[in-house]
Amino acid sequence: MESKNAKIVTCVAPVNIAVIKYWGKLDEELLIPLNDSLSGTLSTDFMRAKTTIMVSPTLQENKFWLNGKEQSFDNKRLDNCLKEIKRRANQELPILNWKLSICSENNFPTAAGLASSAAGYACLVSALAILYDIEGDISSIARRGSGSACRSMYGGWVHWCKGIKEDGLDSIAKQIAPASHWPEMRVLILVVSDGKKKYGSTEGMKRGVETSELITYRAQYVVPKRIEDISEAIKKRDFNTFAQITMQDSNQMHAICLDTYPPCVYMTNVSHAIAGLVHAYNSYKGSNKVAYTFDAGPNACLYLLEPEVEEFVSIVNYVFPPSDPQGYFQGMPLSMKDIPQDIK
Ligand code: ADP
Ligand code: DP6
Ligand code: CO
Repeated sequence: MESKNAKIVTCVAPVNIAVIKYWGKLDEELLIPLNDSLSGTLSTDFMRAKTTIMVSPTLQENKFWLNGKEQSFDNKRLDNCLKEIKRRANQELPILNWKLSICSENNFPTAAGLASSAAGYACLVSALAILYDIEGDISSIARRGSGSACRSMYGGWVHWCKGIKEDGLDSIAKQIAPASHWPEMRVLILVVSDGKKKYGSTEGMKRGVETSELITYRAQYVVPKRIEDISEAIKKRDFNTFAQITMQDSNQMHAICLDTYPPCVYMTNVSHAIAGLVHAYNSYKGSNKVAYTFDAGPNACLYLLEPEVEEFVSIVNYVFPPSDPQGYFQGMPLSMKDIPQDIK
């Protein structure tokens, strides 16, 4: 018999950092992307969202808190996730009619181009799926909250296939390799600015679809081959090729942002200086040892292998002394986190 007591579930979900970027939607309502994308999911020991949801017959109204601040429940994406979860639930469950209290917090900057929407909606949908006993693929539900969230539903290396169905039910994420496949892989996050970005990813990519000619070219002619090539590089643990494709793809996404009108400028001088440092390091080493990638924000995500971490971190600390007021990048906060990528 179904209990009449409140039910509470807490989940954590990690961020993922795309190496082939999702940038542009085919369907704004269903969040179906223009192109496939591929990412690595980080460990929940580092950057993660944590969400607690309570359903109770005694709650008078739905409530939602994010990072300690109450948010409006009148939120289309939240609503779409809830509707889809409830559609897939057993319709006899009494809790379907109870009100919800959702409380979430991120342990890293929100809306700063560090994939908070990915961790946030992956976490929300995981918790809802447990509450309402949903089975089968739920990445297409997380996608309705934020496209990139579908990839955080799996660990390791994850491919989001854009799908061909109009209803988006085959626009889902699939793991192509677990983290254990490439155990030496590490991610460094260089926080250039932890502030909220000027224009969110949603707005930036929408404007890109409306005004950039490059975006269609990318989706049709560039991404399919890159997905194939980077999947192969991951399979073979070929870091040099993996790094080149990763950096080229980040640069292409930001080129599209500049091709957007009015342009979306996410990278700053510090971001470009970090990219320059990575190229200088790789050239000094004779092959690619570090790969940068930038989401819709100025912060750098660097992929590198464990043996490289110590030397590269000491060079970063030398070039960007975080506490040196005479430093070249005076006034630019630059803190750093070392994120081992041991994903379950
Ligand atoms: P980011 O680059 O951090 O992903 P976005 O602009 O894509 O930035 O998304 C930020 C938005 O994602 C937030 O304004 C909020 O609406 C949503 N979000 C972030 N974290 C969470 C969370 N833990 N739970 C629910 N929604 C979240
Ligand atoms: C640059 O998933 O945040 O991080 O689907 O509109 O919520 P919405 O956008 P979002 O976009 C992420 C864009 C990106 C690249 C990526 O993660 O693939
Ligand atoms: Co986002």
